[in-house]
Amino acid sequence: MRYDADALARHFADGPGDISLADVDMARLPSHISIIMDGNGRWAEARGMERPYGHMAGVDSLRETITTCVRLGIDVLSAYAFSTENWKRPQREVDMLMHLFATTLVNELPLFVQENVRLVFLGDLEALPRETREVFEEGLAKTASHTGMVLALAVNYGSRAEIARACRLVAADVAAGVLDPGSVDESAVAGRLYTAGLPDPELLIRTSGELRLSNFLLWQLAYAEFYVTPVLWPDFDRWELLRAIASFQGRERRFGGVVRG
Ligand code: FPP
Repeated sequence: MRYDADALARHFADGPGDISLADVDMARLPSHISIIMDGNGRWAEARGMERPYGHMAGVDSLRETITTCVRLGIDVLSAYAFSTENWKRPQREVDMLMHLFATTLVNELPLFVQENVRLVFLGDLEALPRETREVFEEGLAKTASHTGMVLALAVNYGSRAEIARACRLVAADVAAGVLDPGSVDESAVAGRLYTAGLPDPELLIRTSGELRLSNFLLWQLAYAEFYVTPVLWPDFDRWELLRAIASFQGRERRFGGVVRG
């Protein structure tokens, strides 16, 4: 996607010293960056605060990451906000998160409009509280015609459930006679995932040092490069994103093939 060089240079002025915009090749950016935002609770606890404060600080990191990806001209940014397993958290924290998602979307919608960001959700929104679902649906409607970066927020998302759902949709089409079982291939499945139509992530970033996928985009991440940083999500900023991209660009991507000499 196109980017504004002047706005980008301003965005990355006054760097920390070890990394700068010159360290990334703008012609080889990942088209889809995916993030497992982890460590909000630990960030808050380390400061003697309750976990919700970590989630609130995490929203600031998400906003900075969205703006940075827009400035860089990234096509798709996806972020794991709430998993199908996260309902097991204390009810107070779940309630707080659902309310935070709703207020965040209301607060950030003007930014998405200004930056031409198209919002999509990955996950089953039916199970969300009405307030959150309605705000999400409004966000979808208000950004549907946008042509800039796609922001895919995974909320009540689980990759195994997503793949099982795609199988149900395939089975229903086969039963209805509109799909021949022999023609069910990878694209038939991929086209029935929540990410249908989006390119697969090329770079997966996970914060807080955990070396797990946690049921996130298992199908789509097949060939993604992983970047795991010990930085907790509320401390993740534009410079850490540049480090991740520079690391990605230093990898040799073979997609199962051989190194060409
Ligand atoms: C993981 O930290 C983070 C989350 C469960 C929530 C992240 C959500 C946001 C930053 C807001 C997203 C906004 C919208 C509109 C969807 P953790 O609690 O697992 O941290 P811990 O591992 O230290 O306990």
